[in-house]
Amino acid sequence: METVKKSPEELYSIIRKIDGFLYDGEAYFLYESAFGQRPGAVIAEIGSYCGKSTVCLALGLKDSNNKNARVYAIDPFGGSSEHGSIDTFPRFRENTRNAGVEGFIIPVKSTSEEAYRKWDPVRNIDLLWIDGGHEYEYVAEDINLWLRLVMEKGLIALHDTSGRFYYGGFIGVRRALKEVLFKRECLKEYGFVNATTYARKSHSITQKEAWERWKAYVCWWTGEVGLYPRARGLGMAGFALVVLSRYFKRIPKFIRKPWVLLMDESKRW
Ligand SMILES: C[S@@+](CC[C@H](N)C(=O)[O-])C[C@H]1O[C@@H](n2cnc3c(N)ncnc32)[C@H](O)[C@@H]1O
Repeated sequence: METVKKSPEELYSIIRKIDGFLYDGEAYFLYESAFGQRPGAVIAEIGSYCGKSTVCLALGLKDSNNKNARVYAIDPFGGSSEHGSIDTFPRFRENTRNAGVEGFIIPVKSTSEEAYRKWDPVRNIDLLWIDGGHEYEYVAEDINLWLRLVMEKGLIALHDTSGRFYYGGFIGVRRALKEVLFKRECLKEYGFVNATTYARKSHSITQKEAWERWKAYVCWWTGEVGLYPRARGLGMAGFALVVLSRYFKRIPKFIRKPWVLLMDESKRW
C-alpha cells in the first residue's frame, strides 16, 4: 500500500477538534517523527490526556503504512494536578476512534512508574514522548527510567521545556531538562520545536556533537532568561552593525558608538 504523508494543515484540521496542549509545530513534529519510524517500531507516550499527541503519533504510523508499529499510550486517565480529577479515558477512546487510529494504539491505564515496572525489558523503544506529570520528580523519574529502554539512535522528546517568557513551559519540566536531560552523556542532536526539546540516543558521540550539546543548552538558556530567538537574532545583527559601522565614518556616531547615548547631552556629538 502506498504511503501518503499529510500536509501540516491536513493534520491540524484533524487534531484541532481534540482537547489538548500541543502547538501546531509540535503536532507535526510528532507526526513526522512517527512517520519516519522503522517497520514495527515501538513508540511510548507518557501522558496522553484526551489523545491529541497520541493521534499525531498514531497517524504517522498509519500514513506510513507501518502496520506492526504501536503507540503505547501510558496515562492513569484520571486527570492530574493541572487538570483536576476527571476520567479522560472515554474522550481518549472517542478521539482515537474518530481519527481512525485505534488499531495503532495500546492504552496503558497506569502511572508511568507502574507501566515501567510491567514493561517487557526486551521491548526497546524507538520514540519516547514524555508529557506526563509535570512536577520535577515525575519528569526526572520518567527520563531516568524510560531512557534506559530507548534503543540506540532512538528519539526522546520532552514537552513543556521552553523558557518562561516564550512558550510558557513548566518550572519542574525545565528543571528536569536542565539537571537531567542536558546532563545525559548518551544524548546528541538536541533540537527544539515550540515548547518541546528532543534528542537522539547514542553511545558514540564525537567532540563536535558534544560541543553541539553545549550550543543547544545555551540556545535553550537564552530563551529561559527571556532572550527570544528573534531578539537574539536582532541583537547579533545590531552588534555586527556596531562593529562594522566603526569603519564607516559617514554612519552617525550614535550607531558607531552607541554608548555616547548614555553620555551627557553636551558631550555626545
Ligand atoms: C499535559 S497532559 C498530556 C497532554 C497530551 N500529551 C496532549 O497532547 O494533549 C498530562 C497527562 O499526564 C498524565 N499523568 C500525570 N501523572 C502521570 C504519571 N505519573 N504517569 C503517566 N501519566 C501521568 C495526566 O493524567 C494527564 O493526562
